[in-house]
Amino acid sequence: MRHQVEILPSLLAADFMKLGEEIEAVEAGGARMLHYDVMDGRFVPNISMGVPVLEAIRKSTELWLDVHLMVVEPEKHIEAFRGAGADSISVHQEACPHLHRTLTEIQQLGARAGVVINPGTPVAVLDEVLEVANFVLVMSVNPGYGGQKFLPAVLQKVRQLDQARRKRGLGFSIEMDGGVDLSNVAEIADAGCDWFVAGSSVFRSGDPALAVRELHARATAGRQILA
Ligand code: DX5
Ligand code: ZN
Repeated sequence: MRHQVEILPSLLAADFMKLGEEIEAVEAGGARMLHYDVMDGRFVPNISMGVPVLEAIRKSTELWLDVHLMVVEPEKHIEAFRGAGADSISVHQEACPHLHRTLTEIQQLGARAGVVINPGTPVAVLDEVLEVANFVLVMSVNPGYGGQKFLPAVLQKVRQLDQARRKRGLGFSIEMDGGVDLSNVAEIADAGCDWFVAGSSVFRSGDPALAVRELHARATAGRQILA
């Protein structure tokens, strides 16, 4: 099964005083999905944005909204984020004692369900939920902040997941988040990744539309090697 390459600009790195313009710029660059980071100051050290900001974004754009919950007890919040307009919601394996149930609940609310693993968490813990999840997000930095350096050791996990889905005939997409930029996007694509979250490399580049276009072109070229 072929998955589409998607570049997901991470709004955490956008200029919040002109969020509307920032979103228009990345849409002009061809982005079809936006990544929205929710941090609670407990699961991760930082606090970011929550439900009201997502509601405002939903009113101003048709783009796919991919909500990444970096919070403890994420199951308590999925309904509110879905209600505010999330199209996909991902929860951390490390934060979910009832992961299977939480993924199912996200789907019952009508959203796509993703599971996230930190750099220190092996792919093996996902074995029993790969049939259920719509996508798997592999963190390539320790979550909590934008602008961190990509950890190349996690590429192996993307390869493992890609192999697992081929072998088992599963349709989940593979997403990578943290430190993705022009220097590494082709290699990540070659490992089997489909969705590329990019914060700093898009919004701090001076030209977000161009950055999305270039990242997309390079990721697509990287995937060609694989195909
Ligand atoms: C990190 C967040 C990321 C972050 C990525 O905890 O989950 O989505 O915004 O930002 P960059 O691309 O700057 O590493
Ligand atoms: Zn994220």
